[in-house]
Amino acid sequence: MAALSSNSLAEFLLLLIAISSYLNSSSAARVTTKSSTEFIRTSCSTTTYPRLCYTSLSIHSSTIQTSPKLLANAALNVTLSSAKSTSTMISTLSQTHRMKPREVSAMKDCVEELGDAVNELGKSMDEMSHARQSNFQSMIDDVQTWVSAALTDESTCSDGFAGNAMNGNLKTAVRGRIVNIAQLTSNALALINNYASDPEMLG
Ligand SMILES: *[C@@H]1O[C@H](CO)[C@@H](O)[C@H](O)[C@H]1NC(C)=O
Repeated sequence: MAALSSNSLAEFLLLLIAISSYLNSSSAARVTTKSSTEFIRTSCSTTTYPRLCYTSLSIHSSTIQTSPKLLANAALNVTLSSAKSTSTMISTLSQTHRMKPREVSAMKDCVEELGDAVNELGKSMDEMSHARQSNFQSMIDDVQTWVSAALTDESTCSDGFAGNAMNGNLKTAVRGRIVNIAQLTSNALALINNYASDPEMLG
């Protein structure tokens, strides 16, 4: 009987612990959604394109929570996906008929430059995921170098669409997509700089 009641007591305590941790986690999740969107808004206000920053990242608030590291990572990831899909779109466009040779050539160059940008952004995400206290500064240096290089590649690509070689509507559409990627990249760089100056760097 004594053994039984101590078992029941243990079960009762376990149940209490389970309930209280469930209540804690659900109220923490509620707080996080609101404070996360606030955190994203505040962090985005330091970037060059704050509205684009907020609209592209607030949909990932449950992943980002209030972590500068996860915010920088999400910004890189959004930029990477956008660069990949635009590269695919341009590649498909360049294979359609009625493209002039100069247009095809500008598009091929652009696909190559976007490919380099995708590489640099991917390397940056990979290196950030291996951040340690001991190599933090060299990691940040590498990531800043690669993301800046991605920005240069994107500018080179959009410059290829700046001349008169191409049909107006098509040129405007493609150029708009690339400008958007460059703005996302610039924002990601600003958020990486925020993360680099955060006292809880690895958090
Ligand atoms: C990046 O985004 C894709 C969806 O766009 C998602 O499937 C993937 O898990 C994300 N990766 C990281 C490391 O956040």
